[in-house]
Amino acid sequence: DAEEELYRPNYHFTPKVGWMNDPNGMFHYNGYYHLYYQHYPDGNKWGPMHWGHAISTDMVEWKEQPIALYPDDLGYIFSGSAVVDLKNTSGFGTGGQVPIIAMFTYHNMEIEKANGIDVESQAIAYSLDEGLTWTKYSGNPVIKNPGIRDFRDPKLSWNEEHKKWVMVLAAQDKVMFYGSKDLKNWELLSDFGKELNREIGTHGGVWECPDLFPVPVEGTDETKWVLYVSVNPGGPNGGSATQYFIGDFDGTKFTMDKDFETVLNKGQNFWIDFGKDNYAGVTFSNVTSKNGGKFYMGWMSNWEYANEVPTETWRSAMTVAREIKLIKDADSYRLAFKPVDEIDAYKGAKYKKENIAVNGELVLINSEKINFSRAAMNFNISDIKKDSFTFKLSNKQGDELLFGYNGIDDTFYIDRNKSGKTGFSDTFSNKKSVAKRISGSKMLSGTILLDKTSIELFFDEGSTVMTEIFFPNAPFETFSIETVNQDFVLDLLEVNQLNIN
Ligand code: FRU
Repeated sequence: DAEEELYRPNYHFTPKVGWMNDPNGMFHYNGYYHLYYQHYPDGNKWGPMHWGHAISTDMVEWKEQPIALYPDDLGYIFSGSAVVDLKNTSGFGTGGQVPIIAMFTYHNMEIEKANGIDVESQAIAYSLDEGLTWTKYSGNPVIKNPGIRDFRDPKLSWNEEHKKWVMVLAAQDKVMFYGSKDLKNWELLSDFGKELNREIGTHGGVWECPDLFPVPVEGTDETKWVLYVSVNPGGPNGGSATQYFIGDFDGTKFTMDKDFETVLNKGQNFWIDFGKDNYAGVTFSNVTSKNGGKFYMGWMSNWEYANEVPTETWRSAMTVAREIKLIKDADSYRLAFKPVDEIDAYKGAKYKKENIAVNGELVLINSEKINFSRAAMNFNISDIKKDSFTFKLSNKQGDELLFGYNGIDDTFYIDRNKSGKTGFSDTFSNKKSVAKRISGSKMLSGTILLDKTSIELFFDEGSTVMTEIFFPNAPFETFSIETVNQDFVLDLLEVNQLNIN
């Protein structure tokens, strides 16, 4: 039907039917990547949460599976994570079968309705068929509510150095770390996010969906620990977004790196994505890239309008899987991101142009050459000289999606004000989204992933990322650039068709 044609993404995961939010429990085992997700299969708005499930051999093409976890008497199944218990520390494995253990939050609606505090508790489930079917543990909950209203989203990982499981969860305005030998018995280790009278990081709203993981610093033998914390609201362009902290984890406590802390204290916040539509992302367990980096995906929406976006059959998509890199620059450590290499295998027809002189507006490519609903673009400007430029995707209906760079204030931006259907929410397109450029390099480059309803921008080797969704009245047909300066040169534009099903 029309909605499928126009809005069902070509290569970003969506459930066939119903509501979806956060990615949950991602892990890799025996050739398969698993993605679970917050799901309400019986409605297209947020409702009683289940864990939906999809599998992939490459993190690119996903196949939906039967629902993994259903809500029960203890509550809705909120966000959480999964690990491969290779040594059967939990004892759930039988007959040599490696158990997969999921930990999730029970959100109890009865307690919520009665205005109780202890609405949320942590529980586990195990799978003895590599993540396809699950049995909830009879001893649930494994962590009772300690008197904190928002107490959720446990993220598990194996800490090799201390030979124990570490779990981090969100507790309203901080995160709490727990440790365990068997995934059933947990002890509180420490917390992070608040010190006496001081709040660390952004606290525009409640903290959610944390993640703690080590990443090697590019080009060195050093490893640093990254703490992801989603916050809603409080994002750099409004609503939901994910901040991060860099430091060390000694098996008990997370301590911010001194340089990182200095930059943070100067008022700079660290965001994994400055666009409005990348939330609650966490990493895959039991797998790293060949450089030792982690992979992650986020939910490509924002609580400001997620329930209102103009699709009926399903609601929301995931970002593409991205690789996380850690870079040391002059003043601090920073994260950089790129789409997983596996996407390259799907690159088909290619279009390439070099040394494009632009003065005013210039059409670069049209849809006879490239279908913009499934495309990967690379561009580079070898000497930016603070020139402003705007890329534009447009159609005959007059819809246009604008994005680019503003040399006056050194910011990247996305403007979806005229991108098609926008009236479903006051906050969807009332302002451009902006991100201060992080790189100071003369050369400005970017990778752009386009699908029917999303754009993912990786500027300067992924130092500044922006992800946003849009709903045009018809597919975009023209890709053009506009500049104000006289002698602007786009040194390279390369576009690949992505043949992903
Ligand atoms: C984040 C979140 C989580 C929670 C889930 C409920 O988007 O609010 O904190 O577990 O969604 O669906």
